[in-house]
Amino acid sequence: MSQSLATVAYLGAAILFILSLGGLSNPETSRRGNLLGMIGMALAVLATVFGPRVGPSGLAWIIVALVIGGGIGLYAAKVVKMTQMPELVALMHSLVGLAACVVGFASYVDTSVPFQGAEKLIHEVEIYVGILIGAITFSGSLIAFGKLAGRIGGKPLLLPARHWLNLIAVLMVIGFGRAFLNAHDVQAGMTPLIVMTAIALVFGVHMVMAIGGADMPVVVSMLNSYSGWAAAATGFMLNNDLLIVTGALVGSSGAILSYIMCNAMNRNFISVIAGGFGSGAPAKKPAGNGEAAEPQGEVVSVSAQETAEMLREAKSVIIVPGYGMAVAQAQHTVYEITKTLREKGVDVRFAIHPVAGRMPGHMNVLLAEAKVPYDIVMEMDEINEDFPEADVAMVIGANDIVNPSAAEDPTSPIAGMPVLEVWKAKQSIVMKRSMASGYAGVDNPLFYKENNRMLFGDAKKMLDEALGALKG
Ligand code: TAP
Repeated sequence: MSQSLATVAYLGAAILFILSLGGLSNPETSRRGNLLGMIGMALAVLATVFGPRVGPSGLAWIIVALVIGGGIGLYAAKVVKMTQMPELVALMHSLVGLAACVVGFASYVDTSVPFQGAEKLIHEVEIYVGILIGAITFSGSLIAFGKLAGRIGGKPLLLPARHWLNLIAVLMVIGFGRAFLNAHDVQAGMTPLIVMTAIALVFGVHMVMAIGGADMPVVVSMLNSYSGWAAAATGFMLNNDLLIVTGALVGSSGAILSYIMCNAMNRNFISVIAGGFGSGAPAKKPAGNGEAAEPQGEVVSVSAQETAEMLREAKSVIIVPGYGMAVAQAQHTVYEITKTLREKGVDVRFAIHPVAGRMPGHMNVLLAEAKVPYDIVMEMDEINEDFPEADVAMVIGANDIVNPSAAEDPTSPIAGMPVLEVWKAKQSIVMKRSMASGYAGVDNPLFYKENNRMLFGDAKKMLDEALGALKG
């Protein structure tokens, strides 16, 4: 393939990636967005593999790598459960970081292109920055993977004087950067480069270890952004325009997503990065009187049959799905219930919290899979004011996102996080297996409210029973 043909293919791929991102912004166009992204990526891979830069001997290596990498990717995509998606994504970010490091070292030791003067300086800065971002992304994503998979505890690790430690690390990175750029040959430059890589790896571990469970969604999208910048840096090192454009798209869209999620959780981006939030400590003090904020009262449990009865008598029902619906794979039964109720003239809508589940858009994906019509799936801001008019708010395996202490108790670890105000409905029903807390490890006073009922059990099993009772 000639250089000009490869350039045209790269341009086409870049346009397809942009259209893909546009498509992914809406559930109705997201399939098309995915398809465009896949076509763009196929085009990019073909133009690279058969492009002018790869010789016949290189081609063989690339095909071997494609078969191995593609095989692992196919296998992972087949076996991964929807609820494990964030872990997989974190693991993939770590690979992007690792690739940036490896490419950085390879570009540094590769002396086949002799750079001189300003060009040499720019090339070395690209290498240094690329390896720096890549190493932070690599180790940070591995820790995020460990936390999301439950292999590492969700509590933030708060070392004494951790901000000073971070500052010292930054100063050392700058100092070694100077030494690296002043080095006369590859051998002399290698030591500062390796030391900086080690510092960046430790920095990545420390950064994510200091972030508590409740902030993990923001961290994952932040690492997504880092992986994009790492890819862009790799693009600069390899002089590959498409990689620069793609990396910048991933980097900026990840940053925008992090910002949106911070807003959804009422968190300041800088304080998320600084760490220490989401320690999982239960709320200790109530808002006003200084006594312990232990949830008051008793929980009232109901059966699936009673739940069906309440749903049948309601005129307006709002369903709030959460992580438990994903675990129980209850989305299809949820839709069956929705259909049955709508046939009986009940107004049924879904309320989606931006961080419900374990990844952005988790609930939308599940509901789309079950073919729930998009027009009854509402975002938090669109529906939160409607709870007082709802006869029943049915919470299916959600916990943190419906926790009133976020709105009512300033000392709660999730204070200030906007939540779905289900307790304002005439009746709320919470479906879960036990009294256990949710992801953030915070008690939920909703369970004890007078107008709340608990339906204990696996969401799928309980909903199947309720559906049977509704139809019967
Ligand atoms: P959670 O607060 O985690 O609550 C889920 C509830 O589902 C649990 O309390 C659990 O209670 C219940 N559950 C689990 N399996 C169930 C089953 N088979 N049947 C019925 N119930 C089941 O979930 P949420 O309300 O969706 O909130 C999401 C949380 O995850 C937030 O804190 C958010 O910050 C965090 N997070 C979000 C993301 C993204 S990007 N969405 C990523 C990482 C973390 P039982 O054990 O008693 O059943």
